[in-house]
Amino acid sequence: MQHVELRSDTMTRPTPAMRKAMAEAEVGDDVFGEDPTVNRLEAMAAERLGKEAALFVPSGTMANLVSQMAHCGRGDEMILGHLAHSFYYEQGGSAAVAAIHPRTVPNQADGTLPLDELEAAIRGDNIHFPRTRLIALENTHNLCGGAPLEPAYLKAVGDIARRHKIKLHIDGARLFNAAVALRVPARQLAFEADSVSFCLSKGLAAPVGSIVCGSREFIQTARRARKVLGGGMRQAGVLAAAGIVALNEMVDRLAEDHANAHRLAEGLAGISGLKLDSGRYKTNIVYFDVVKPGLSAAELVAALQKEGVRMLAAGPRTIRAVTHYEVTEKDIDYALEATGSVMRQEKISI
Ligand SMILES: Cc1ncc(COP(=O)(O)O)c(C=O)c1O
Repeated sequence: MQHVELRSDTMTRPTPAMRKAMAEAEVGDDVFGEDPTVNRLEAMAAERLGKEAALFVPSGTMANLVSQMAHCGRGDEMILGHLAHSFYYEQGGSAAVAAIHPRTVPNQADGTLPLDELEAAIRGDNIHFPRTRLIALENTHNLCGGAPLEPAYLKAVGDIARRHKIKLHIDGARLFNAAVALRVPARQLAFEADSVSFCLSKGLAAPVGSIVCGSREFIQTARRARKVLGGGMRQAGVLAAAGIVALNEMVDRLAEDHANAHRLAEGLAGISGLKLDSGRYKTNIVYFDVVKPGLSAAELVAALQKEGVRMLAAGPRTIRAVTHYEVTEKDIDYALEATGSVMRQEKISI
């Protein structure tokens, strides 16, 4: 039986080139700043995003949290979308760990926050209010179907942040997917931000790690935050080596993942009992709804698993499928065939 893993691009395993680079990596103690491979990765990442400095951290969650901690003090407020990964899926770490007050603005379907509502959410100087210090955007936007945020929108948000003297962080876990989809250099998507994070361990296929980029001063503060969170790593060059391969070899090919996601989405849209909003899949993430009476997302996911196709139930009726470098066009066709055949069954066996 064919196996097609569509639950997440975090399922990607390191490429042969990554494993070789990891085995041969020159290493040192990174807490002392002496791991040459980590230093090389951080310098490459900063250069690539047009920022002064960068920091290698174990995960996207820590990348967001150290950025929030570097920008905000206890009791300060951060504005972000109600569907932001940071708000939804990170255990409320900004509040629980860093005492940062999150204030949400509703995300629109394209991942943006309405500019008027965003600006209205910024607090004035009043002894009753927390102080707004940070706006956080997400690019691409995971829960909004991998929607990429355009440079013009980022500029408009950057203008608001500057006008109110607050900072802008971009959770760019999949920033390179946005860059490839919009056909712009990643640094153009980072330009307006005071800090940007991106993940090496998702579509770029490295086993571990994320990067935060910003000014030298910001990175110094973020480095302190990483240490208090227990994220100071020692001979982390074995991990950074895979990250260097990821940046050198795995970015341009993301276009293939987008083409495969598109193929999957178009195919799913043609299957009776499934519903898909066109335009909701612009990169490598596809969400669709099960509308066949009596069938839940979890039941369809279980039936597909028996056919070797793995997807994720993201809600009672909603399923998520994510493409990545271990999924080929043939795999997509197999997944569509399997889904079509399961959906045609009178009574789906799970
Ligand atoms: C947009 C976004 N931000 C942050 C993260 C967190 O990354 P990690 O799982 O490496 O902590 C994810 C993970 O899926 C994500 O999609």
